[in-house]
Amino acid sequence: MSSDDMKKRAAEAALEYIEDNVVLGVGTGTTVNYFIDALSRIKHRLDGVVSSSEATTQRLKAHRIPVLDLNAVGPLPLYVDGADEANRQLQLIKGGGGALTREKIVAAASDRFVCIADRSKLVDILGKFPLPVEVIPMARSHVGRELLKRGGQPVLRENCITDNGNLILDIYNLQIREPAKWEMELNNIAGIVAVGLFALRPADVLLLGTPDGVRVAHAG
Ligand code: A5P
Repeated sequence: MSSDDMKKRAAEAALEYIEDNVVLGVGTGTTVNYFIDALSRIKHRLDGVVSSSEATTQRLKAHRIPVLDLNAVGPLPLYVDGADEANRQLQLIKGGGGALTREKIVAAASDRFVCIADRSKLVDILGKFPLPVEVIPMARSHVGRELLKRGGQPVLRENCITDNGNLILDIYNLQIREPAKWEMELNNIAGIVAVGLFALRPADVLLLGTPDGVRVAHAG
């Protein structure tokens, strides 16, 4: 079975978590795209969606799913998003698609975070996937030096400007054994807007698409 088929399985399984007449938070990425396509079948049951990126907004609008401003709707019951890596505590690396800051905001504003992924995303230790950080352009060199001091190898993502007008540095060579500590440490570097570690606010449920079906993991 292809990884796309596994992503699709996980995406379809997330529909089960949606109650009637709610505003839903929706993430970004190829797995989420399958979720949005599935969501169009039940859009009449939704009050609307808060989007985590311009790309997701476009796809939602193409399906005529109403997109709402987070400021207008307050806390959300549910956020559905993918991940680049997940560990067994459901702490994640995200931001491969560059949408980490808005994803973090919508996740923080949601009561429950259901993560959808194919089985290749499950790892023992986070960090093989280079950790994305969103950086204010004038702080690029400063942030790069601070990351080098901490043992990371930052690489500027080519031809990438985020939806917020910022840059992405991808940090290679990290073995993130204490994700929450790393997240707090990197959050404190001036010029970093958001860190692609979701450890302080991990997923609550992980739906992992496998050839044998969807494996469900819960945090804690
Ligand atoms: C987007 O910025 C990311 O956080 C995505 O959620 C993550 O990269 C997973 O993407 P795929 O579903 O495309 O693997």
